[in-house]
Amino acid sequence: MSPTSRAGKTKFQIDLRRHLREHYINENLTHLICEIAEASKYIIHSISTGDLGVAGTSNLYGEQQLALDVLADRILRKRLDHSRVVANMMSEEMDEIIPVSPDCGGKYSVAFDPLDGSSLVDVNLAVGTIVSIFEGCDLLQSGRNQVAAVYILYGPRTTLVYSVGKGVHEFGMNMLREYTLLQENITLKPQGNLYSPGGQRNLYTPGVEAFVTKLEERGVKLRYSGGFVPDINQILLKGQGVFFYPHLQNLPEGKLRLLFELNPMAYLIEQAGGAASDGRRPILDLQPQQIHERSPVFIGCKKDVALAEEYISQLEDGKGDVVEKKAKT
Ligand code: AHG
Ligand code: MN
Ligand code: MN
Repeated sequence: MSPTSRAGKTKFQIDLRRHLREHYINENLTHLICEIAEASKYIIHSISTGDLGVAGTSNLYGEQQLALDVLADRILRKRLDHSRVVANMMSEEMDEIIPVSPDCGGKYSVAFDPLDGSSLVDVNLAVGTIVSIFEGCDLLQSGRNQVAAVYILYGPRTTLVYSVGKGVHEFGMNMLREYTLLQENITLKPQGNLYSPGGQRNLYTPGVEAFVTKLEERGVKLRYSGGFVPDINQILLKGQGVFFYPHLQNLPEGKLRLLFELNPMAYLIEQAGGAASDGRRPILDLQPQQIHERSPVFIGCKKDVALAEEYISQLEDGKGDVVEKKAKT
């Protein structure tokens, strides 16, 4: 993007739509991402004023749906339904894929987690919305085929982070409730000094336990909020760190959902120069077999993710004990 195209403008005056246009993103994808941004304004309102109770229903995971989960889902679903650029959509709160338009040409399919970390709202911790975007009609593609990923973080400030494959960019919501550019081309260092360990430590498998012990020996600091969006946002904006919600002794597939949480975050983190793995393979190379699939995840600085894979392959996949030598390099 030529600097002259911003003659006289400070970056804070670059709004989301202009930024997408400066990256020559096609009109339909630009419209879709802006519609997601618009929906977030109603989700913010529901968080600050909505009913914090349970909805009396549960999702396909058997998790009790909070009223806010259902409300946020309805807000996004309505917005996408009326956008005229969506072919199919699917969320963590829905039982099956919702067809919006039969023709796929020039349209997108969207998988989303309308309110991630919703159980944190009643203790006033940060929560978010996560969106994964594919071209055409197929939502059961590997994450490598995504054309965009977006998350909105409802924290002390409301921010939006997106990538369409040309870097990762952050926007903040201003007084006029517009998203204006805060920073562009966010990148991660090769190795970090913070870790965000999900799941119960006493249920970690040998490779994961050895990985965490190694991090702690290195003096890495623990930062875990229980919200995937703020925890990943911290790693992105600090430019370093590793988050993991691993396979556990009683939960081999881990907790987080491949389509709605892991694919979009893996896309963003890889765009920022990091890595995302299920402990053995890149998240983005996983071929989902069903829409509600879960996967273990190690995501963040490349070297930290590689270290986790090393320990898992040596101590769980029976490839000897070279870990110490390898990890010392
Ligand atoms: P959701 O609220 O959409 O179900 O997601 C919650 C997820 C994710 O936000 C977080 O990383 C993880 O649950 C935390 O799980 P624990 O409470 O088991 O740590
Ligand atoms: Mn979630
Ligand atoms: Mn959710």
